[in-house]
Amino acid sequence: MRVVVVGQGYVGLPLAVRAAQVGHDVVGFDVDEERIKRLAAAESYVDDIASETVREILDAGTFHPASDPRACAGFDVAVISVPTPLREGLPDLSYIEGAARTLARYLRPGSTVALESTTYPGTTGDLVAPILEEGSGLVAGVDFYLGYSPERIDPGNREWTLVSTPKVVSGINPDSLESVRAFYASIVDTVVPVSDTRVAELVKLLENTFRHVNIALVNELAVYAHGLGIDVWEAIDAAASKPFGYHKFVPGPGVGGHCLPIDPSYLSWRVQRALGQSFRFVELANDINNHMPEYVCRRLVAALNRQRKAVNGSTVLLLGLAYKRNSGDARESPARRIAALLLEMGADVRAADPHVVEDAHIDSRVTLVPLDPGQVAAADAVLLLADHDAFDLDLVVRHAGYVLDTRHRLTGPTVESL
Ligand SMILES: NC(=O)c1ccc[n+]([C@@H]2O[C@H](COP(=O)([O-])OP(=O)(O)OC[C@H]3O[C@@H](n4cnc5c(N)ncnc54)[C@H](O)[C@@H]3O)[C@@H](O)[C@H]2O)c1
Repeated sequence: MRVVVVGQGYVGLPLAVRAAQVGHDVVGFDVDEERIKRLAAAESYVDDIASETVREILDAGTFHPASDPRACAGFDVAVISVPTPLREGLPDLSYIEGAARTLARYLRPGSTVALESTTYPGTTGDLVAPILEEGSGLVAGVDFYLGYSPERIDPGNREWTLVSTPKVVSGINPDSLESVRAFYASIVDTVVPVSDTRVAELVKLLENTFRHVNIALVNELAVYAHGLGIDVWEAIDAAASKPFGYHKFVPGPGVGGHCLPIDPSYLSWRVQRALGQSFRFVELANDINNHMPEYVCRRLVAALNRQRKAVNGSTVLLLGLAYKRNSGDARESPARRIAALLLEMGADVRAADPHVVEDAHIDSRVTLVPLDPGQVAAADAVLLLADHDAFDLDLVVRHAGYVLDTRHRLTGPTVESL
């Protein structure tokens, strides 16, 4: 099949690569010319995709990176995987609208469009279908097929990959479901059909809201357990020995990336808009998780205070700018907020992260340094924020005067866990 993947980011590139590997003729389309140049030069910018893999599919002639929309012509299947951010707290669907308008121009009878971007229930049927119909003069579900399939990519996870993770698929009618199902069945091991695109859209929001709420629960617990003088980490590990009815989540410095800080708000916005109700679980989880960077700073201030030091003028070394371990993704990362708060208080903020090499989205006043004994010893306080495998944690314990460990990876007389 001729496949177009619109948006060559963390979601779209792995999908395009997999489709090309199984033998589809794939156009990786992106409006970002720089990204397309890099792909054409066989250079991957997504952690889980090796440049060598891009080279292989380029050489095989099954992958065509393109920034010219005309390359989308003649597709059998098109997948939309463009950003769905929040703008001033509200869903911004302009990227989906733009992608749909581009595809509408090249839509032919019998072709299929699948939306993968995370969004609120109703987007595929109420927003994407009319744009495709208007631009093409064709009728959705009759002349062409349309569906939704949520992405479940977990960056850095070697066990559960795009191929091995079951994929939920849906269509706006039975023919659309069948067409969307057949395409995904050609690239992943297991597909899970659901009856309605709104169900599939809700699946993604349910999964992420579940994580968001449970992380908020243990974060709040960590704050209060510390106040009560109880080791929350030991309690969490012991609770996880229960073989049924419990799912382990751990506290941290806040949530980041492009899913948890954003997706639940798409759901609460939709509920508010359609039903006039506030989705209280989401609001509460947002509130707790958004306050974790402040809490981390409060703990740091208290620790420096015990040493008769002010934050103003102290050197604080942040270990890990990414939002999670072994990732290079610093988007919406709690490290950004923590760095901003510490800079505001007058700290000399330094940061080490071997994964975040460019476009770190971090305040330019933060000095990027390597993790070495000199940097660790020179810091009045070290903050472990992302426990990358590449970090020599023994070195940190050996040389640090004080460490606040938000991931509970270190032990020693100078270490304090969140
Ligand atoms: N990153 C993840 O782990 C993850 C997981 C599940 C779902 N999602 C969702 O998938 C969607 C995409 O996320 P991502 O992380 O891949 O984003 P990304 O920012 O990494 O990539 C999106 C790409 O789309 C391109 N783009 C924007 N508008 C375009 C247009 N009109 N035509 C062509 N290209 C266009 C951008 O230039 C960018 O390269 C979002 O809805 C996100 O919430 C992401």
